[in-house]
Amino acid sequence: MSKWQELEQKYFMRTVERLPVTLVKGQGARVWDENGREYLDFVGGWAVNSLGHCPPVVVGAIVEQAHTLIQTSNQFYTIPQIRLAELLLQNSCLDKVFFCNSGAEANEGAVKLARRYGKRYLDGAYEVITTMNSFHGRTLAMVAATGQSKFQQPYVPLPTGFVNVEYNSIEAIKAATSRQTCAVMLEPLQGEGGVNLPDSDYLAVVRAWCDQMGILLILDEIQTGMGRTGTLFAYEQYGIEPDIMTLAKGLASGLPIGAILAKDRASVFTPGEHGSTFGGNPLACAAAYATLKFILDNDIAGNAKRVGQYLVSGLERLKQKFQFITDVRGCGLLVALEFSSDIAGSLVTACLDRGLLVNRVKPNDLRFMPPLIIGNSEVDEALGILDKTLSSIVS
Ligand SMILES: Cc1ncc(COP(=O)(O)O)c(C=O)c1O
Repeated sequence: MSKWQELEQKYFMRTVERLPVTLVKGQGARVWDENGREYLDFVGGWAVNSLGHCPPVVVGAIVEQAHTLIQTSNQFYTIPQIRLAELLLQNSCLDKVFFCNSGAEANEGAVKLARRYGKRYLDGAYEVITTMNSFHGRTLAMVAATGQSKFQQPYVPLPTGFVNVEYNSIEAIKAATSRQTCAVMLEPLQGEGGVNLPDSDYLAVVRAWCDQMGILLILDEIQTGMGRTGTLFAYEQYGIEPDIMTLAKGLASGLPIGAILAKDRASVFTPGEHGSTFGGNPLACAAAYATLKFILDNDIAGNAKRVGQYLVSGLERLKQKFQFITDVRGCGLLVALEFSSDIAGSLVTACLDRGLLVNRVKPNDLRFMPPLIIGNSEVDEALGILDKTLSSIVS
């Protein structure tokens, strides 16, 4: 254990089992540890480093903004925030935005917005339907929204107002809808729950049900947004539009930011009803603007689609070779590899030893979320390491 790792053991609350590596530097799809060892990064800061590590265009924007204006209160207009809002809204189906600092905060705000809508238009309805195996964040309310008992059990009693139903079942949503319901909140495809893709018509039938009942559809695109799944936002692939959408993760290439986007009719906050000290600060917004502009100008979403298909076909070949691989699934560069037993944890360590960072999303599932700027050569390199690692398990 290095000096830094000992200090971590001494000072930190034990909320995470860290891997035994201290990262000190990153460039593109590579990171280096304190001993100068290089790794190919297929975790990407948990789907955050869309443009890779330290993308020059974002570093430039951050440096310039840091020399100009880092933070003011939201009582004042600031230009980076307004430029980002315009670019985001011009490239999505939503009309209004609120900036905050993280995914959980964006989802909290989205639920508050839906409750305000319920108070104004739905006779005080406040309940939000979410799905099993979802992930919406770590605040108490978002733990209640997240349909996974391992996140909920340590904290019961949880805030009320959430109903967790079976994923990919319109019948379950219909059965849970009552006069108290103000919204359905979904990830277009579940990330943290194991990269679970719904049936191709699921979102459309949920959309139709929400319209029929007059309730809102909130899409949590915190993991799937910003080009990750091969389009700028995943909803584009399902032929529907949400009333509210949340973003975070890849939005600012690693600077903390979150966003709630809403259709005009769902944008019902009035002054003083919601807020954030750091939300929309010029530094994070300048980084996000540079990130989004680069994604749009360079068709990074298209690259994620093409390279994602190449990754999936390579993983399919590994599936042919290794009987204990039971599934390959994903969309764009959000991809999972499933095994017949709980070997994902030991594979993460074995890949690390060979210079590849991958994520254990479930005991029997690996998840790949590399930067969206990678090409086929990085995929070949990762597949080569995986192949060797899987072969070593067999032998
Ligand atoms: C779909 C989704 N929603 C919300 C969150 C929470 O975001 P944050 O960790 O920024 O609070 C995550 C994080 O993994 C996520 O994947």
